Amino acid sequence: MDFKFSAKSLDSKATKVFLCLQDKKLSKPAQDFDASHQGFLKQALDNNRFSGKKNETLVLNAPYDIESPRIILLGLGSEKDISIENLENAGGNIFPLIKGTPDQSLEIIVDDFTLNDLTSREICSRIAYGFLLRSWSFNKYKTKDVEERKIALKSITFLTNEADKAEKLFSSLEQVAAGVFLAREFVSEPPNVLYPASMAERLQDLTKLGIKVEVLGIDELKKLGMGALLGVAQGSIREPKVVVLQWLGADPSEKPVAFIGKGVTFDTGGISLKPSANMWDMKYDMAGSAVVAGLIHALAGRKAKVNAIGVVGLVENMPSGSAQRPSDIVKSMSGQTIEVLDTDAEGRLVLADVLWYTQDRFKPQFMVDLATLTGAIVIALGDYFAGLFSNNNELVDKIKLAGEKTGERVWHMPLDDRFECEIESDIADLKNIVFGRKAGSATAGQFLKRFVNDTPWAHLDIAGMAWAEKDFPTVAKGATAYGVRLLNELVQNYYEKS
Ligand code: BES
Ligand code: MN
Ligand code: ZN
Repeated sequence: MDFKFSAKSLDSKATKVFLCLQDKKLSKPAQDFDASHQGFLKQALDNNRFSGKKNETLVLNAPYDIESPRIILLGLGSEKDISIENLENAGGNIFPLIKGTPDQSLEIIVDDFTLNDLTSREICSRIAYGFLLRSWSFNKYKTKDVEERKIALKSITFLTNEADKAEKLFSSLEQVAAGVFLAREFVSEPPNVLYPASMAERLQDLTKLGIKVEVLGIDELKKLGMGALLGVAQGSIREPKVVVLQWLGADPSEKPVAFIGKGVTFDTGGISLKPSANMWDMKYDMAGSAVVAGLIHALAGRKAKVNAIGVVGLVENMPSGSAQRPSDIVKSMSGQTIEVLDTDAEGRLVLADVLWYTQDRFKPQFMVDLATLTGAIVIALGDYFAGLFSNNNELVDKIKLAGEKTGERVWHMPLDDRFECEIESDIADLKNIVFGRKAGSATAGQFLKRFVNDTPWAHLDIAGMAWAEKDFPTVAKGATAYGVRLLNELVQNYYEKS
């Protein structure tokens, strides 16, 4: 699909989209259209329940005197709650309206319309971005009705007085979307196709974007002493990999920022086997690593002036004759010993070594890890917020703001020395579970903290965010890539040299 930005209409047969604010306040171009078409829109507003609220849309068959098949009114809400997020959502809401139609071209008429401090170029590019994000789907394993499934739409044109500037803004957002799509694809792939070695191989493709890719295999991991990660992997016939991605877009003297991802390509629970109901969803237990890859892709794609490191720990957690047992004691790269009392609490074991390795090797300005770490965070925050745990309040504030702007929200949760006694082991330095169900996400975060020194660090528990059980405006049901947009915004807003 082609996104165009133009001062004038390019196709008189295009389906037209007009913007409308709450209480049926048509945008200026919509009013002009209405005046030259005998109050067609006014009449439609009188006869429908549409009032221009956010997430409302109205599809009309076009009047006989124009060539367009359809006119769409796009609700934006009241002027005071117009935000980038709402514009993106509005763009996303267009997609399902035209998905089933034969329409080949769409024109969204913005002209010189502005809203609060949002310029026409910003309005156009954000609506376009929302549409693009929503349009992604994962069809590669469908062998039937392949053509029918394809959307007929060929082009979507924004009519604006700021065409060049809108196009420039959009081309940067398109790069972020490419990162989002990479992450969604990884998360969607089944675990018989995507496992540590095959994911590492796909990550090698990122070299095309100027990203440096290193794959550490089992021998190197042994040499590094990553006993916690290796313990998780030892039950699987698939060998673990740690992949290091480096996008060096700033001066080499600039300290890097670092992102770490949990990449359990399938989590059966190991010997502490999970119940079979819904076990399938543990295919997305590698979402943290997918998001890290997508983020580095996005930063490289838009040539961000930052040095960014991504490190992902890829393992499969399986029960077998070689699997680790509940009560095994492993030695982590940090030197600390861990009593593995539950082999299903494997994410923290993987992250323990990857966090330590990243901090030790790269001495980053800060580290953010992403992990589908605990079921408890889903109970606490549902699919509304990711849990944010951190040793640094400045970093917390920045991530929160990025969350508000992108709509990928976080909720600040506690780390505290009072949790320390809970992770104390009787016979090793720490244990990987806490008995009972109290504060399960916080004690997991506290466990991770033991593998971080003074580096500012944040942990995002994305267990509730990685997979959407229903459609959202900019995310169709399935893999979300939650975190790519959030962390791209964090980097862009605070860490890029201009
Ligand atoms: N991958 C799971 C957490 C998870 C749950 C992710 C639901 C996505 C959706 C994690 O490895 C796990 O099994 N956690 C256990 C920890 C427990 C054994 C301490 C949990 O949350 O039950
Ligand atoms: Mn688990
Ligand atoms: Zn897991």
